[in-house]
Amino acid sequence: MRQILVTSALPYANGPIHIGHLVEYLQTDIWVRFQKMMGNRCIYICADDTHGTAITIRANAENRTEEELIAQVSEEHQRDFSGFHIEFDHYGSTNSEENRVVCHEIWQSLRDADMVVEEEIDQLYDTEKGVFLADRFVRGTCPNCGSKDQPGDNCGSCGTTYTPAELVDPVSTLSGTQPEIRSAKHLFVQIEKLHGFLDEWTQSGTLPSESANYLKNFFLNEPLRDWDISRPGPYFGFEIPDSPGNYWYVWFDAPIGYIGTTQQWCSANGEKLEDWWKSDSTEIHHFIGKDIQYFHTLFWPAMLKTAGFSLPDKVHIHGFLTVDGEKMSKSRGTFIEAATYLKHLDPSYLRYYYATRLSSRVEDLDLNPEEFVSKINSDLVGKVVNLASRTAKFIQGVGLSETYPEDGGLFDTFAARGDEIAAAYEAGDFGKATRMIMELADQANPFVENNAPWELRKDETKAQELQDVCTVALNLFRTLTIYLAPVLPGLAQKAGELFGEELTSWEQSKAPVTGREINKFKHMMQRVDPKKIEAMIEESKELAAAAAPVPSGEWNDSGDALAADPIADEITIDDFFKTDLRVARIIEAKEVPEARKLVQLTLSLGGDETRNVFAGIKSAYELEELTGRLVVMVANLAPRKMKFGVSEGMIVAAGPGGEDIFILSPDEGAVPGQRVG
Ligand code: 2FM
Ligand code: ZN
Repeated sequence: MRQILVTSALPYANGPIHIGHLVEYLQTDIWVRFQKMMGNRCIYICADDTHGTAITIRANAENRTEEELIAQVSEEHQRDFSGFHIEFDHYGSTNSEENRVVCHEIWQSLRDADMVVEEEIDQLYDTEKGVFLADRFVRGTCPNCGSKDQPGDNCGSCGTTYTPAELVDPVSTLSGTQPEIRSAKHLFVQIEKLHGFLDEWTQSGTLPSESANYLKNFFLNEPLRDWDISRPGPYFGFEIPDSPGNYWYVWFDAPIGYIGTTQQWCSANGEKLEDWWKSDSTEIHHFIGKDIQYFHTLFWPAMLKTAGFSLPDKVHIHGFLTVDGEKMSKSRGTFIEAATYLKHLDPSYLRYYYATRLSSRVEDLDLNPEEFVSKINSDLVGKVVNLASRTAKFIQGVGLSETYPEDGGLFDTFAARGDEIAAAYEAGDFGKATRMIMELADQANPFVENNAPWELRKDETKAQELQDVCTVALNLFRTLTIYLAPVLPGLAQKAGELFGEELTSWEQSKAPVTGREINKFKHMMQRVDPKKIEAMIEESKELAAAAAPVPSGEWNDSGDALAADPIADEITIDDFFKTDLRVARIIEAKEVPEARKLVQLTLSLGGDETRNVFAGIKSAYELEELTGRLVVMVANLAPRKMKFGVSEGMIVAAGPGGEDIFILSPDEGAVPGQRVG
């Protein structure tokens, strides 16, 4: 049994997960599930990447602390991942005590190895925002090749790395102003001291060959540049213990987060960190995108090596997502957030689609909506689920044949393919694995067509034949769902319910099951309705438009609403305060089956105080979008007895009704129970 530790890149805690991110998390989750099915001991570790200037800027803009922001984002990220059946063994945060401890340890090792030097450097400072600019917040012209609009750390065209201050014509992306150069003390790690080691390690088969070849250039003739790993405060991160007022740059503590988070998992599970990060018997696999390979293939191994941690056995590197051949775009509605996708479509669709497009090469992956529909409908629904839906019902109450029937060698062919499919999964070549699985499905379907169980059932004398045909078809279906289980755990679970067993091991694909009951066939997967894809794109467009502020001078609000409903008679401030408006959180939203317009809300006013409220908003909101959000309620309204129960208040909304109802929400920072007025 292999012992394997797997990580995906830690997502930044300053924005939502979108379908571009999901390429990586789904790819990793499929690989991990495959390893677990093979009986290997495999843990999947991830965390939010929480430090740096971007977090501070967003937290300031939202008038809350960085800690509050990262706590909320962590919840959202984990909700989105679990919506896509991405199952981590532990999900942590780089802003943890465990991570700080490992940062100290690695830092001390770098100091002991005499790899840290101090230098006064010129850095770009945004005078309008009052911050030193992180590399990502500067764009300008590459000092080496002259390409325009390049980021502050390395050129996307020629690959050269440089400091932001070396950029030509720099512009701060935070304020659009030209930053000024200010000098500050920074700490640098001299990775050149590991030149020989890194040269050899990057060419040792750990990286995809494209990446290894690309990196060769870095080692030719030139020394590796020192790596600037400190930032002067104020900076949201860990203060450097022996350099007060300076903080580790986010890219120092981010990969260390892999280890810090493993430590959390170890503490919760009675394990030792050394067994996972300092042991030759544990394999370490990182999954990352091609944009961050520089960090994972030079700096990270240099840190690990110096501090005596294990080096990764494999760095799996993927390309970027395009939609219909183009970069994801907010205005075209193809920048789709995970949460938006889940409102419209089944997560299994995307899991399968990405799997069919993934290989072990570093290449971009295109999401083509037409192909998406046809792959799901023809492969999964048409070829796989159909095998069961067309046969299971005929042997309900009868069960599978006592002995496995003669099937012309079909099952053996299926079982014999298992090793090859497993090898494709192991290599990360999920496109190849799914192609092989569909080739098998193509052999199973003619068996059902030719034997037409729907005809056999009309003739009582053919009961045995019917049972045998269904036994074969269902066993072929079972093996297919086991082969697909790393990609489609939801389908494997439903198939398992049909057979009365859990389909969790690759071994189960090798022998047919016989002589047992078959449970009632429950619906397993719906065909994709292209209208739902359109609705998802439409909603993504609206979300993007709503998030973009209307430029000043372009407000042009009509007077119709006010004209239709003029302002009421004057009241005094005391009159107003008779209405006790409070911030409340919707902690549950339920259907009221007998009522066309109502939903039943449980509102929390904080602590144990809750109110039951019936609100006439069903025509405008889905239940899922209501749960968790903050609203404003009239808290001292006399309770009203209704047919379905007592309503203890109302929530405040605008709009004429129907689909045009707009619930009022307080800005971020408000908490349940606060008075509004
Ligand atoms: O590029 C990113 O999204 C980073 N947050 C990835 C960090 S990966 C690791 F090193 F922590
Ligand atoms: Zn360049």
